[in-house]
This record gives sequence, C-alpha cells and structure tokens, in this order.
Amino acid sequence: MDRFVIRGGVPLRGTVHISGAKNAALPCLAACLLTDEPVTLDNLPAVRDIKTTCHLLATLGVGLEDQGPAPGSAPSPVRRRLRVEAQKITSVEAPWELVRTMRASTLILGPLVARGGQARISMPGGCAIGARPIDLHLKGLEKLGAQISTEHGMVVARAGRLRGARIYFERITVTGTEDLMMAAVLADGETVLENAAREPEVEDLASLLTKMGARIEGAGTSTIRIQGVPRLGGAAHAVIPDRIEAGTFVIAAGITGGDLTIADCRAGHLLTVIEKCREVGLHIETPTPTSLRVSTDKPLQAADMTTEEYPGFATDMQAQYMALVTQAAGTSLLTETIFENRFLHALELARLGANIRVEGNRAVVRGPTPLSGAPMTASDLRASASLVLAGLAAQGETIVERVYHIDRGYEHIEEKLSALGADIRRVPA
Ligand code: EPU
Repeated sequence: MDRFVIRGGVPLRGTVHISGAKNAALPCLAACLLTDEPVTLDNLPAVRDIKTTCHLLATLGVGLEDQGPAPGSAPSPVRRRLRVEAQKITSVEAPWELVRTMRASTLILGPLVARGGQARISMPGGCAIGARPIDLHLKGLEKLGAQISTEHGMVVARAGRLRGARIYFERITVTGTEDLMMAAVLADGETVLENAAREPEVEDLASLLTKMGARIEGAGTSTIRIQGVPRLGGAAHAVIPDRIEAGTFVIAAGITGGDLTIADCRAGHLLTVIEKCREVGLHIETPTPTSLRVSTDKPLQAADMTTEEYPGFATDMQAQYMALVTQAAGTSLLTETIFENRFLHALELARLGANIRVEGNRAVVRGPTPLSGAPMTASDLRASASLVLAGLAAQGETIVERVYHIDRGYEHIEEKLSALGADIRRVPA
C-alpha cells in the first residue's frame, strides 16, 4: 500500500487546476445505461472510483472507449473523455467485490431496472463513516412499481415498465435522489421527488439526462418533476468541476499560510465554504466565476461549523476544515449531522498535537496548537485529505499510510501539491 511522506511548513503558492467532480461523474456514467446510443462524457477525473465504475459497466456489457484528453485541456488535470455505449446489456449484476470497494455502485440500480426491468446489486455493508443504508432507494423503486427482494446478500429488483409516482424522501439523500431520477426518466407518467437533494451533482446529472431526451424540471431544488419518456438517446456532456477538491485547496492555502489561485472551479458551488473560511480569517477573492484566489494575512480565528445538505457546509469538507481550525485561535465546535461516525481523523490529528475532544456528533477543537510530524493512517477519502493538510502544516516529517483512500477521489493530489511547492512524495508499497 502506497504512503505519502510529507515535510511540512512550506506555504503553497501558484495556480492549481481543479478536476472534474467524482460525485457528478459517477451518476453520469450510470446514466449511460439508460440508452443504447453512445454517450460521450468529458472532464472525467482520473481517480480510482471512476476506474471502478468503468470496470463495473464493462462487466455489464457496456462498451467504453477512452478518447484521451479533451481538446483544449489545461496542462494539469487529466480531463479524460470517454465514449460509453450500452448497446446491449449482458449482465444486470453488481457483485460484492465491486460494491465493497465503492458504495456508489448502487447507482446502477435505477437505470438497470428502468431499462431492462431487472437489477441485482450486492447489499452494501457498513462503512468507515457510518451505516449508510440504501432503504430510501429501495422504497422509492417500490413506489415506482418495482418488486424488491433480498437473496443471499443481493438486493434483487424486478419490474415491468416503471410507473411514475410521488416520492417523499424521509431523509435527504444524494445518490438516492440520483438513482430514482434515473429510474423515473423512463417510467410511464409523472414522478415527483419531494425533499430531494439539491447538490450541484444532482443538477449536473439532470442536465445530462435532459440532453439525452429526458423531461426534468426543478433539479437543484427540493422538488423535482419528471415526465417519463419511452426512450432516451445519445448525448455529449462535460461534468462539473469538483467542489470538494477546490475546497480542499482553499484549506491548503489557509493552513500553510500560502497564496493560491484555484482555477477551473465553480465559485458559486463553494459559497458556504468560502463564507466559513473567511470567518476563520482567510482572504478569498473570486476574480472570475470559475476561479478563486486564497491567501492569509492575519492569524486564524476559531469558528463553529455544522455540516448540512447543500447549500449548507458539506460533510465532505468537515475533516479538512477540522485540520484548518487546529491552527485557529480559540474553540471551534464542529457538528456532524450527516454521518454518525465521521470523526476518525480527529484521533489521527491529535497524534500531530491537535487538541480535539469528540463527544458524539460534536468535536471541540482548541487552537492554535503547533503540529509536529508523525505517522498517521487514513481511514476514508476525506479523512485522508485532512491528514495530508495537517502534514503540510506540521514541522518535520509526516507519513500518511493507506493513501489508496485518497486516490479514490483526488486526482494525483501529490503532483498538484508538489507543483505548488509542497514537499510531498508517494512511496510505493
Ligand atoms: N441514508 C439513509 N437511507 C438511504 C440513503 C441515505 O438513511 O437510503 C442516510 C445516510 O446513511 C446518511 C444520509 O442519509 O446518513 C445522507 O446520505 P446520502 O445518501 O446523501 O449519501 P450518499 O448519496 O451515499 C453522497 C456522496 C458522499 C457524500 C454524501 C453526503 C456520492 C457518490 N457520494 O453519498 O461522498 O458524503 O452524499 O453529501 O455522491 C465522498 O465523496 O467522500 C463521499 C462520501
């Protein structure tokens, strides 16, 4: 297993280009199952979860052709373009080996049932950040007319043509909204999704589906109306930039006392993160709608933060924010409302000298505390990013073990950080 070796204390300077959003690319790839015509997706990030999804699609009989970097690519991100053609679906099963490594495999459930009336998905188990059930996906599919059963650890969904329905989500779910939106586009009649997720990734998926011929209104709001159509066709679509990667670089600038330009992002998707980081004392300008300039010219101040669904502060930025406020003067109270066990990084940060007390879904961070390098073990994707950020701010050498977690969702993060002056290298296993 690869590890990162970091020598901290270098303020990062320069320009970083943001890659395509993993969490937008995953549902867009699943949406390709809805048509037998080719769909071309641009700006796919070169991260492991995308490779895993491509592997999953290939096992279902989907043809994938890597068309290389899109024309006009900036030098840093890879911006892959892929032609996906689900002309014939030869299997309807997502096996345990794939679901185990990537829960988002469940995103093929809605499209497979809508297209061919059948799907078999290995039931995802618990995960490092929480229980993460998929009951709301399944209840929604039942409302659309599918029959759901569980056999030998597999969820089996069967249906004739799905029928539109009103579906109220008891809890806001991002992939649940995406899964049911993909099921409803080919259903007979109108589906209304209420209390739907408003994340930009949901809107991006709706934009691809609309290009494919779907009739969707209200994506990006909590009520999404879908008029089912008999079939969808091919399309071309570039996925949105990754707002979590961009937010992580905002914090990288702040925690190292650097000065970064974050290019190829959408400032409009980062408003809550920008506002919170300004409260902590970062100087953030938005010179254009697609770039940010982040610097620090004063000591950081503590600020409380509560994670919420979009447009609130993203749970996927909580770990990185925790690293930042270890360097802020005063007490910051962090409340995690989305996942029940998403503070594993706190114990690792404490090994560097951070003063953090976790009480249930709250973490109390007292700062500033000097950080000194130490070995740490990554537990999940965003936790790993927080450990890398802390390592960049720590004196001496930090080792982050199990960086395969970070490779799931950050494209060559060590190369992007090195180009900004960081002393970080990957040591292969
Ligand atoms: N939930 C249920 N039942 C369901 C679905 C969700 O109880 O059927 C609960 C979950 O257990 C959780 C809450 O609802 O407590 C919200 O979960 P959600 O379904 O929104 O999460 P997700 O769709 O599985 C996506 C992202 C996550 C991100 C969350 C929250 C993708 C592929 N994943 O997960 O991203 O943390 O939304 O914003 O879009 C990451 O990128 O590191 C990551 C974990």
